[in-house]
Amino acid sequence: MTSEEVGRIYGDVGLGEFHLTLASPLERGEYLSVRDEHGRMVLCQLDDVQRQSDLNVERAAQLVHGGSVDVSEAYNGRARILGYREGGLVRVPQIPFAPGASVHRAEEPLIAEVLGLKSNGNTGAYVGLLRGHNLKVELDINVLVQRHVSVLAKTGGGKSYLVGVLLEEFLRHKVTCVIIDPHGEYGSIRYKTEHIPKERSERFQVEPQGFRDQVNEFSPDTRLNTEAEPLTFSLSHLDAREFLTFLGIQNVRGYLAPMKSLLDRTAIANPDYTVKDLIRVARGIEEGGSVYEMLAQRLDYIEETGLLGPKGTSLNELVVPGKMTILNLRGSAPDVQELVVTKVATSFFDQRKRGKIPPLFLVLEEAHNFCPQQGQAASSRILKTIASEGRKFGLGLCVVSQRPARVDKSVLSQCAAQLILQVTNPLDVRAIAQSIEGLTDGMTETIQGLPVGTCLVTGGGFATPLFCEVRPRSSRHGGESVKIVPNS
Ligand SMILES: Nc1ncnc2c1ncn2[C@@H]1O[C@H](COP(=O)(O)OP(=O)(O)O)[C@@H](O)[C@H]1O
Ligand SMILES: [Mg+2]
Repeated sequence: MTSEEVGRIYGDVGLGEFHLTLASPLERGEYLSVRDEHGRMVLCQLDDVQRQSDLNVERAAQLVHGGSVDVSEAYNGRARILGYREGGLVRVPQIPFAPGASVHRAEEPLIAEVLGLKSNGNTGAYVGLLRGHNLKVELDINVLVQRHVSVLAKTGGGKSYLVGVLLEEFLRHKVTCVIIDPHGEYGSIRYKTEHIPKERSERFQVEPQGFRDQVNEFSPDTRLNTEAEPLTFSLSHLDAREFLTFLGIQNVRGYLAPMKSLLDRTAIANPDYTVKDLIRVARGIEEGGSVYEMLAQRLDYIEETGLLGPKGTSLNELVVPGKMTILNLRGSAPDVQELVVTKVATSFFDQRKRGKIPPLFLVLEEAHNFCPQQGQAASSRILKTIASEGRKFGLGLCVVSQRPARVDKSVLSQCAAQLILQVTNPLDVRAIAQSIEGLTDGMTETIQGLPVGTCLVTGGGFATPLFCEVRPRSSRHGGESVKIVPNS
């Protein structure tokens, strides 16, 4: 059986691309095939389509005035040659195709073979279907951990939904993961989604499923985030500067020396001191009066939150083999969030180096806040270290952001795999175009108009960037935008 002929090659034919006339207009991105001189089927992709007509301005004006005119049309396009597989490698013919050669719609086995779409069994994360086809797109989880991945799109573009899909796959494959969740969106992965429309459920082969047994959630603020257990930090592991961050004191210069002095005085009396001890000692210090009273008041507040204790949450509670831990930072001040990320990321890196915790995947939502391109966040340094060295130690990073241009370039450039949904801001589009190899102008244009739920996948072990329709979530998506005016 041969597939449908869609056109013929014409004009000057190159080794990388060719022009073709089309029998009817096709969508940009369509996969095509051409047989080469040696009889091999070669995969190509339509990069540009044109509809030419003999309708000139005068006759178009007649149409405006209700007249009728005959229009003759012709379609043509430009296609890129992707290649054929031989000995496991993708090769491109070294002789241009013959002008007049017939161009067909590519058959799915050829597409799958050349792009490298395969079922990875134990290590495949099924994220969706190749756009317009019934071919599963599976990312190799080992490749993701070793090469890091970024998920980029404008707000509302579907990042959190897609990250949810990835996390479901990690959980199915018992991959240990930790997610930094600044908006408290990910706890809903515990519950199965209410409904998947039948047509989508059949096409994507996805059933509702919750992951309650595999999810742990911690938060510095358990009054707001009631499903979470308290995330606490050990007093003895904090230095004076970090204390000031937790206390919300920005005037480091004015308070650093008194804070140091307070910690020293308290520790002398009792090395296993509590926040209560600090408050008592602060209130007992005569000199410096109002400074220590201010510290005491802030400590009163921190005491109530329970964020700091003699014994912090242990790493073994945060990193549980085969499970997912959500660090829900909803309600915490930005500098406290940075400090939490710094503390946990540093211990993950140190303990992973020593093999004390299992290989794990760290998902960083709102990455532009934790490792910004301009300015410094407390967490910048450790995140850069993990981006450049984490792979050696089995510490994979998933960087999620709606402002790619504002994420530290050295972190973003370490992500060898990218999942890109709709991006419209020109600066962000440029940042992406610069950081991805093999992105054509056509693809760059396409990502600006992608519908919600379609993403560009690059570097996931596939021969070329490809577009993927993200599969429905099995679990509930927690990032629904809040409606100010309810639907009528
Ligand atoms: N693949 C998808 N299929 C169906 N709906 C989606 C998909 N991706 C996103 N959505 C919907 O689009 C909205 C925005 O998605 P979300 O992931 O929260 O955006 P972001 O995190 O990029 O701001 C959500 O309400 C979600 O239900
Ligand atoms: Mg989001």
